[in-house]
Amino acid sequence: MCGIVGYIGQKDTKDILLSGLEKLEYRGYDSAGIAVRNAGGVHVSKVKGRIAALREAVNEDVHATMGIGHTRWATHGAPSRENAHPHQSSTERFTIVHNGVIENYMDIRNQYLQDVALQSETDTEIIVQLIEVFYNELNDVAAAFRKAVELLTGSYAIALIDSEDSETIFVAKNKSPLLVGLGDGFNMVASDSMAALHVTDQFLELMDKETVILRRGEVKIIDPDGQQVTREPFKAEIDATDIEKGTYPHFMLKEIDEQPFVIRKIIQEYQNENDEIKLDPQIREAMKTCDRIYIIAAGTSYHAGLLGKQFIEKLANIPVEVHVASEFSYNMPHLSEKPLFVYISQSGETADSRSVLVQTKKLGHPALTITNVPGSTLSREADYTMHLHAGPEIAVASTKAYTAQMAVLAILAVDTARAKGIELDFDPMQELGIVANAMEALTDQKEELEELARDYLSVTRNCFFIGRGIDYYVGLEGSLKLKEISYIQAEGFAGGELKHGTIALIEEGTPVIALATQENVNYSIRGNVQEVEARGANSMIISMKGLDKEGDAFVIPHVHDLLTPLVSVVPFQLISYYAALHRDCDVDKPRNLAKSVTVE
Ligand code: F6R
Repeated sequence: MCGIVGYIGQKDTKDILLSGLEKLEYRGYDSAGIAVRNAGGVHVSKVKGRIAALREAVNEDVHATMGIGHTRWATHGAPSRENAHPHQSSTERFTIVHNGVIENYMDIRNQYLQDVALQSETDTEIIVQLIEVFYNELNDVAAAFRKAVELLTGSYAIALIDSEDSETIFVAKNKSPLLVGLGDGFNMVASDSMAALHVTDQFLELMDKETVILRRGEVKIIDPDGQQVTREPFKAEIDATDIEKGTYPHFMLKEIDEQPFVIRKIIQEYQNENDEIKLDPQIREAMKTCDRIYIIAAGTSYHAGLLGKQFIEKLANIPVEVHVASEFSYNMPHLSEKPLFVYISQSGETADSRSVLVQTKKLGHPALTITNVPGSTLSREADYTMHLHAGPEIAVASTKAYTAQMAVLAILAVDTARAKGIELDFDPMQELGIVANAMEALTDQKEELEELARDYLSVTRNCFFIGRGIDYYVGLEGSLKLKEISYIQAEGFAGGELKHGTIALIEEGTPVIALATQENVNYSIRGNVQEVEARGANSMIISMKGLDKEGDAFVIPHVHDLLTPLVSVVPFQLISYYAALHRDCDVDKPRNLAKSVTVE
């Protein structure tokens, strides 16, 4: 949560910082600010609200060639101008932006800052005030910065400027993502390469507990032992156009439409010239030799994990448990003798999942991360990584990453089955090709789905999704999509479970969306629909060709049984999108959320 950016170079920095922050808004968007430094001092602009509001607030007449910026998702203190970053020390000599959570900020405050009048409720202000206290003691900014950073526990990506120094941005990182962007006559620091792609595609990775002295022509990385480190730069593989909306009104719609291409890309990336599955042999071995798989994930990725369990158990015959990351940390089940942990995470930065990874690594268990961001924390810290190849996902509501996760899990399940000598009557690449075509057909039916959203969801305050077997798991994802972007209270239920209590909530007109794509439960799920209709529900059935019946609201093309979730989720994504649109909601940036959840 929160994104930071810093620039030191030759050009006017305001626009470079603001454009960078716009690309980081997915990390949080409740308040924002920048601080730029010139001969006249440090000029801070901050607002409660989005970067668009910050743009309006920034004084166009101030020109500077160095500065720092921040977009916030509040953790300590409400979203307000006072709590927005940058924060300054009491004399205003030092100015800081920070992403992360300082766990010992109260201890620091009590021990070192008793006499300091704090201006905000944030843990961040503690850092900048501490630096000033240490500077008064040491009379050396770099030493004061290092001493303060060494005292911090928790996560941080920090950039600090000094009103007396026109040459340096002081940087530190622990657990929160941070990269240095390299340029000719300038350097940058940013939470994500996307924030600097408008000026450079060359980056340096930073490791936890490193600090950096960033100057126009110099990047000095210092490790926790005080030794200078040299590191090779890498080229960001993201195409700048991938992070633009183009002609689409919203990123979410663009990303829904991209799903067929993502599935085809996955087929290409995971297949060799002999049409065999291309996979790191170490992953194959780890899958083949473990006695149980523990999938750890959150939110949408957890929903993909539930389907991954079905693929792996049904095809590869290995028992799988799926756990919500935030629960697993303190509620660890009895583990098997030879477990393999599989972390599913679009961003690769989810703090809840990382906390489990840290614990299971300590226990010595191998870990595989399935992520859209190969250089991310979960990817770096796991033993193995499988890449989703979905391209940047900007809309907060995950769509193409979810279907990519399922496609990669299906390939992994088939590969494991083959490695174990299990004969399968299932060619994943061919079946995924059919899935991609089916997705394309669905994304061409937007008008129909928009109409369904209008008919069923324009005025309602709640909605239920029901299904059986794998349709139930897709219903969970459908309900999450709908609630997070339209604010309609939506819940997913196993069709047979509704009558054990929840059916009490069905009133005249309550929308119930049922999914019927599985032959073995086609009859029973339709029975559940009758039950809610008898109690006044306004029901719709989304079925699959071949299992459809007269009166079904929408029919998806026929695909292999196991892979139906990749296709049946598309109408749910589009219905949610249009429901949010009709309710005038901010589709790409729903309230209270952030794309990358880096706090536990
Ligand atoms: C919902 C959504 C979230 C994420 C969850 C985990 O649309 O995107 O539920 O799935 O926050 O994030 P990752 O996958 O980055 O670990």
